Amino acid sequence: MLATEFQHKTQNTEQQEEEKYLMRLLDKRWSPRSYSGKPISNEKIQKLFDAGRQAMSSFNEQPWRVIFASKEDDHYDKLFECLSDFNQQWVKTASCLGVVLGKKHFTKLKKENRHRFYDSGAFMAYVALRATSLGLFVHQMAGFSPDNVIENFEIPGEFEPITMFVIGQPDDPEKLPEKLQEQESPNSERKGVNEILFGAEWGHSYV
Ligand SMILES: Cc1cc2nc3c(=O)[nH]c(=O)nc-3n(C[C@H](O)[C@H](O)[C@H](O)COP(=O)(O)O)c2cc1C
Repeated sequence: MLATEFQHKTQNTEQQEEEKYLMRLLDKRWSPRSYSGKPISNEKIQKLFDAGRQAMSSFNEQPWRVIFASKEDDHYDKLFECLSDFNQQWVKTASCLGVVLGKKHFTKLKKENRHRFYDSGAFMAYVALRATSLGLFVHQMAGFSPDNVIENFEIPGEFEPITMFVIGQPDDPEKLPEKLQEQESPNSERKGVNEILFGAEWGHSYV
């Protein structure tokens, strides 16, 4: 076998392995509501947010910041009380809780960064995938009061709370109130590519 042929074959095998691994992570990820409550080590917390750091962002601004709390931390309750009643009923099964905040302006350009939500979503997507690779799951939440976060943590005006989240190991859905047990599923419905990818004509599938 020629060297170039060998290289090509190795690259192909590597790429196939990478795709298989990524697809496995994508398939495995979901947002449980029932958690084991087992604490997450600082080593794993570091790994999770290290993955988030790799996310792309407009002008490489990295507008994301995170306030994180484990249940035994004094500031945990200050985060927990920011959640809606609906989310409080299941979040209590998890051992930790966090909120993602976005920086409102580009640091160098002094101009509003209207991509801060988009970029912070990419950051959390990376965290969620790394979590999956570590046997952990992330559930994000819009159901909380940004004003309460600002007040409880004296957030500087340049930052705004975007999304809260929990991270943990999924557990028996029977831990949840009956109505939530029925919704606990790793197979949420998704739109088809033909419903979201258009060409020249709006609403007409490109593929
Ligand atoms: C920004 C954002 C906000 C969300 N808010 C809530 C929420 O407040 N409460 C909740 O139970 N789930 C919430 N979810 C979870 C979504 O309902 C869930 O991701 C979606 O149904 C798809 O399911 P899957 O993540 O299991 O694939 C939120 C997810 C995202 C990304």
